Amino acid sequence: MNHMIWQDVDEFIGMNLLKRDHGMERVLAANHAAALPAIDVSAPQGKFLNLMVRLSGARLVLEIGTLGGYSTIWMARALPRGGRLISLEYDAMHATVARENIAAAGLADTVEVRVGRAIDSLAQLQGEGLYPFDFIFIDADKPSNAAYLDWALRLSRPGTVVIVDNVIRNGAITDPLSGDRSVRGSRDAFEILGSNPRFSATALQTVGSKGYDGFAMAIVEG
Ligand code: SAH
Ligand code: DHB
Ligand code: MG
Repeated sequence: MNHMIWQDVDEFIGMNLLKRDHGMERVLAANHAAALPAIDVSAPQGKFLNLMVRLSGARLVLEIGTLGGYSTIWMARALPRGGRLISLEYDAMHATVARENIAAAGLADTVEVRVGRAIDSLAQLQGEGLYPFDFIFIDADKPSNAAYLDWALRLSRPGTVVIVDNVIRNGAITDPLSGDRSVRGSRDAFEILGSNPRFSATALQTVGSKGYDGFAMAIVEG
C-alpha cells in the first residue's frame, strides 16, 4: 500500500461518484493562483461533509478554519433554502480568496466568513446569540482543538454533529510523547471527546490523496 494507489483510488472515487465538478475545480485553481497552502479536504472528503450535513438535516453550520472555502462550499451546497453557514478564519488574505470563491459558487447569501482568531469569533457568536449550531466542522489550528470542542458544546444543542479534521496524522496520534503541537492538540481532542459525557464519539482513519489521516466525529448528548 502506498500513496500512489491511495491517490488513484481517490481519482476512481471522484470519477465514479462525484463526476466532474467544474465549480469545485475552479475553487482549487483560485486557491492555487493565490498561493494558498493545498491543505483543503479532498474531493471525496468534501462530498462526505456534504452528505453529513444533509444526513443531519442541519440548517445552521459552523466551520472553524476556512482557508479558500473549499470545504465551506461543499457543506454550504448541502443546506436547505434559508440555511446558513458561518466560517471562521484568522488570515484576512485567506478570507478574501474564500469570499470570492463563495460568491462565484452563488453562495454569498448563505455563507458568512468572519475574520479573526476563532476563539474571539466564537465568543462573539455567543454574545450575539447566533447559536445553537446543528453541525460544526473543526479544521483550524490543531493546538486549539480542545478549546474549540469546549466552544462547540457551548454553541450546540443535543443532537449537534461535531467533526474534527486531521486527528490521525500518519498514526502519530498514538504517541503520548509526541513533541508535535498539532498531535498534542488532537490527543487533547480525543481526551475530551472520550471523557466528557456530553459527547458520544468515534474516529475514522482515512487514506487518500492527502495521505494517512482521519476524522473524529461526535454527537452532542442531551
Ligand atoms: N477547512 C479548509 C481547510 C482549513 S486549513 C478546507 O478543508 O478547505 C486551516 C485554516 O485555519 C487556515 O486557513 C488558517 O489560516 C486557519 N487558522 C489557523 N489558526 C486560526 C485561528 N486561530 N483562528 C481561525 N482560523 C485559523
Ligand atoms: C494541515 C492542516 C489541515 O487542516 C489539513 O487538512 C492538512 C494539513 C497542516 O497544517 O499541515
Ligand atoms: Mg484539515
